[in-house]
Amino acid sequence: MSYSKKLIKNAKVVNENKILNCDLLIHGNRINKITKEILPTPEMEVFDVKGKYVIPGLIDDQVHFREPGLTHKATIKSESKAALAGGITSYIEMPNTQPQTITKIEWEAKNKRAAETSYANYAFMFGGTNDNLDEILALDIKRVPALKLFLGSSTGNMLVDNPNVLKSIFRNVKLVIAVHCEDEYTIRKNFKVAKEKYGDEIPIFEHPAIRSEEACYLSSSKAVALAKETGARLHVFHVSTAKELELFRNDIPLKEKKITAEVCIHHLWFSDDDYISKGTRIKWNPSIKTKEDRIALWEGLNSDLIDILATDHAPHTAEEKNQPYNNAPSGGPLVQHALPALLTAFNEGKITLEKIVQKACHNPAILFNVKDRGYLKEGYYADLVVLDINKEFEVLKEDLLYQCEWSPFQGIKFKGAVECTLLNGQWVYSEGNVHPKSAAMELTFDRI
Ligand code: DOR
Repeated sequence: MSYSKKLIKNAKVVNENKILNCDLLIHGNRINKITKEILPTPEMEVFDVKGKYVIPGLIDDQVHFREPGLTHKATIKSESKAALAGGITSYIEMPNTQPQTITKIEWEAKNKRAAETSYANYAFMFGGTNDNLDEILALDIKRVPALKLFLGSSTGNMLVDNPNVLKSIFRNVKLVIAVHCEDEYTIRKNFKVAKEKYGDEIPIFEHPAIRSEEACYLSSSKAVALAKETGARLHVFHVSTAKELELFRNDIPLKEKKITAEVCIHHLWFSDDDYISKGTRIKWNPSIKTKEDRIALWEGLNSDLIDILATDHAPHTAEEKNQPYNNAPSGGPLVQHALPALLTAFNEGKITLEKIVQKACHNPAILFNVKDRGYLKEGYYADLVVLDINKEFEVLKEDLLYQCEWSPFQGIKFKGAVECTLLNGQWVYSEGNVHPKSAAMELTFDRI
């Protein structure tokens, strides 16, 4: 018997700040109906989720999948499978690959590769440099989610440090400008101090003194000032300090904001206390800061100063990460565990399910104008996640889907898991297994 429709019965649907007991009818790759009760007919395959929560698939606006050029760390295929296991059905990938995604040719090549191998819905940010404004202005805004600028150096050497170029980009680019903010001069100055003190053996706990609060604030406040001066649409990635929150507002709806902020899961989960046990595995740019910063980030998220929750999934091999501080690269794999970490936080009373859905599903769709995704709505693509909110599990090496085979969460016990994931109307993940056939699509953006 082949069915033309899927009927998901007895769901607790979390959507648009409400939780409703509903049935959902899926036809093809779209949601056909969401209502209190839908009676099954012979063409419907029925899935009774028995009162479990159902949320829209997450849209992660900041991942590094390392392809092309860095495929010893990860590939689009390996990491997009891990994303589905983590309830992330759509991702926006970063341009610091090799070659960098700073020309239309490279951007097209990445899309082509994803069309062949990605398991989750995909889109690719374009990278700004000191000399590619013409390329940026020629981009197709219905296909390119945003422009990424590194205002502090990180993996991939993509620093944009010419103030005239920056001003020109901010003045002329209509796309969202997503920025990595850390002040390069301050980082170099702090690094010199640490080097004089420790030589080649700088301890990892110096990382937040090198990539400091001051470095973050100087850079993000400059970006915000420039956006105010030029009218640019600025999105500040991975805010990591309490102090930066004063740069953002929560008195207008996201749709009206021209300056927005994002927090990543590692800055919400870890604090500088964890450097002792986790070492360079939690070396990130920006760095993990203090417990007080972490509390402020939770408050900023819950009070809407922060608009988006993302991962900054940035895998490196275990060998690369296990090197001494100076040589260990920054970043770590997160897409498989961000949602379980958030569900654990929900179980601890730190955030509501409605807020998680707002920040990780609805808001990325609003901010980037993602077409027909990010909500459980009739007519929208059927990207959704069934949650098992009470399931307790430990993050074990053998369960990791990341190509790099390690996780900063290894050994941590979560309460709250992804039970199964539906992508474009197809079940693509359940009980630890990713379906061998992909149903992924390119994201498009509703812009004129
Ligand atoms: O920690 C980080 N790793 N921060 C970034 O900005 C880049 C990322 C990477 O690509 O490794």
